[in-house]
Amino acid sequence: MTDKIADAVSRRRTFAIISHPDAGKTTLTEKLLLFGGAIQLAGEVKAKKNRVQTRSDWMNIERERGISVVTSVMTFEYGDHVFNLLDTPGHEDFADDTYRTLTAVDSAIMVIDAAKGIEPRTLKLFEVCRLRDIPIVTFVNKLDRESRDPFEILDEIEQKLALDTAPVTWPIGRGKSFVGTYNLANNTMRRSDDDVEPIAVNGPESDAVAGLLPEHEREMLVEEMLLGKEACRPFDMQAFREGHLTPVYFGSALRNFGVRDLIEALGSFGPAPRAQDADSRRVEATEEKMTSFVFKIQANMDPNHRDRIAFVRVCSGKLQRGMKAKLVRTGKPISLSAPQFFFAKSRITADEAFAGDVVGIPNHGTLRIGDTLTEGEELLFRGVPNFAPEILRRVRLGDAMKAKKLKEALQQMAEEGVVQLFTPEDGSPAIVGVVGALQLDVLKERLKIEYSLPVDFEMARFSVCRWISSDEPGEVDRFIASHRGDIARDLDDDPVFLAPHEFGLNYEADRWKAVRFATVKDYQ
Ligand code: G4P
Repeated sequence: MTDKIADAVSRRRTFAIISHPDAGKTTLTEKLLLFGGAIQLAGEVKAKKNRVQTRSDWMNIERERGISVVTSVMTFEYGDHVFNLLDTPGHEDFADDTYRTLTAVDSAIMVIDAAKGIEPRTLKLFEVCRLRDIPIVTFVNKLDRESRDPFEILDEIEQKLALDTAPVTWPIGRGKSFVGTYNLANNTMRRSDDDVEPIAVNGPESDAVAGLLPEHEREMLVEEMLLGKEACRPFDMQAFREGHLTPVYFGSALRNFGVRDLIEALGSFGPAPRAQDADSRRVEATEEKMTSFVFKIQANMDPNHRDRIAFVRVCSGKLQRGMKAKLVRTGKPISLSAPQFFFAKSRITADEAFAGDVVGIPNHGTLRIGDTLTEGEELLFRGVPNFAPEILRRVRLGDAMKAKKLKEALQQMAEEGVVQLFTPEDGSPAIVGVVGALQLDVLKERLKIEYSLPVDFEMARFSVCRWISSDEPGEVDRFIASHRGDIARDLDDDPVFLAPHEFGLNYEADRWKAVRFATVKDYQ
């Protein structure tokens, strides 16, 4: 390990924000980027979204429905740290994209609306983080509005998520009288995020704190802070890193309260890039040789250039511009001639990137989701998941002459993770599978615009799809032979069983005890 690599790794914080739509993820993102100097004015994240939408036709879907389809990465610096924020689509129809992105982070910020508490999508995303033991920092947002009592919010987190809480800051006042944040651990306060350095105070009852509060609420709010200080669990680093405890911060992203506390917390508590499990061994972030994996493909980020970017999470070593890497799936070399870093407003050529960094690699279809890149070592990172689709459709094409073009286009869309593609063994037309219906809209729009292929979707006679495998030799082949009409192959040629309904699946699962019917498959 060189000192340079070790130093770079220790400074990296790679994270995502998980939340229910409307809790304030976009607003918080803007504020974080503002602190990092990545954007000049708050509002640019949204402004940028709008610009991209008007330039790109297929993203009309996004504009019309007011949702964010695009996942991207934003890098910024604050203090001594380099932060890589991996953005995720807000709409649950693109949930599989979000889950894949969560495989590439080391920690997450969970944003909760102070009036609404834990909402369904927060719960779902939290569960995904828990499966991977991703440490979570909680930000309770919108304290400037009518909100619940902080104890009630802490209690809800503990009850609904079975997660211990340790409030590090406490709101000074709430709603109209919200005037700052008080740090329970070290007796400092910030009157707003404009207070760059925290101000040392003599406890909540001091004039510096209590004096900020309106007289009629003062006693009650000071008592609440004192109780928070006395009664709440202290922060425990090990429990946090193991995913059992979340430090909690209160604030208002819109009004500039508590975001500085939060970013500093992520810098000081947030884990540096973790060791990653590959099939043959565990790869330490500080190893000298570069390893990385693709967790997302994004087409059309620049609609003028029809580009296709593979987002790669570096797991170890140094990814250098111009280096030749080995694409382990094919065994072939790939030249990394123009890796890119992304900022809110722009992208730049990445000369070197370290573990935890995410770089975009422009390519024309060479890279797929789940691909591993190394400096020659034969190893595969596992765990970028593929979820069994919930909607299955056949693609109907008006012009039969274009069947070959459609096949190629679907293959590409599947490699990008837009949809999953299943080729039936009996030679019938391909079936596409998605987790949410909006993915079908995106597919239709992109086939029309990028490939001039107007398509429609037909109901397939199947609604359930499972990957089949077995520990007993020959068992899968026997199953396939006796269900030929209900078997298809995915992009990697792995067999899936297609059933008309859950009942049909359960019936077969009962009869074929040695066959596994999996709802999740790792890529590769
Ligand atoms: P999302 O990405 O999680 O979906 O949420 P977003 O940041 O877009 O915020 C949703 C709404 O909540 C926005 O209002 C935003 O201004 C507001 N908001 C975010 N943080 C705070 C906060 O700390 N306090 C208050 N009072 N409001 C907050 P909107 O009216 O839907 O959008 P806009 O027209 O203001 O952009």
